[in-house]
Amino acid sequence: MTFDKKHRSRTLSDVIFASTDVQQTLKDYANNKRDKHLLLYGPKGTGKSVSAELIMRERLGSIWQAGLAEPFNAKAYAAQHDSFGPLLSQWNWQLSAGARAGCSIVDEIDQFTLPMQHKLRAFIDQYEMGVVIATTNNLHLVDGPLKDRFRPVCVEYPSIDQWVPRVVAVMAVEGIPITASQALVLLNGFDGSGRSLNDWIEDYVLRLQGAVHKLTKPLASGVTPSQVVTIHNTTEGK
Ligand SMILES: Nc1ncnc2c1ncn2[C@@H]1O[C@H](COP(=O)(O)OP(=O)(O)O)[C@@H](O)[C@H]1O
Ligand SMILES: [Mg+2]
Repeated sequence: MTFDKKHRSRTLSDVIFASTDVQQTLKDYANNKRDKHLLLYGPKGTGKSVSAELIMRERLGSIWQAGLAEPFNAKAYAAQHDSFGPLLSQWNWQLSAGARAGCSIVDEIDQFTLPMQHKLRAFIDQYEMGVVIATTNNLHLVDGPLKDRFRPVCVEYPSIDQWVPRVVAVMAVEGIPITASQALVLLNGFDGSGRSLNDWIEDYVLRLQGAVHKLTKPLASGVTPSQVVTIHNTTEGK
């Protein structure tokens, strides 16, 4: 399993948001309190796709199962379909399984051609038994009238301080317990997306595990924070 997959957020509360307003709005969607179609936009690697999946999963609750809730990627969808029949049938399957409303994800909605965006707008106007959660890194490529059907929510990169709890949590799962201030040290120089954060942490995990292995053979179970600091100080900075 890749490091990224191993540490993928399991619930919406594991996802770090720069804005508490955005976090609350998405929580409301996850709790079925909001039903307007949702458009998550912002730079790549801010957690839009993972949030869309978790919102859908939480909205569907106990009826969620992979076959009923596969996210659609606009480009792949358009390569196979020129109508929104498959999306409608996903809603119908969910409703027949007991969902109170359908829910579908359209990732990278900007990848639909303009005619396909027009069809989606017509589809949304015709059928009211489901919610579309769309994501895009390119809001300017989404047709205005289609955008108007959605609640647009801007998802931005969290600050270094906001990433700290995630670094602490991931390191704990890796058996390397560290404090918040040690996590801040590890984040020194980090200036990227959630996706690159995973790579950044993985580099440290491998480096620290290698260093601990050299220092403490046989490897003790878990590493103490003071060892981490010692190791960090003796490991080249990134
Ligand atoms: N804000 C975040 N909180 C937690 N994990 C994140 C966050 N942003 C990105 N990630 C992780 O980075 C990876 C890519 O995120 P993704 O949702 O595909 O980004 P986007 O759709 O905005 O480009 C995923 O493994 C995700 O778990
Ligand atoms: Mg995405």
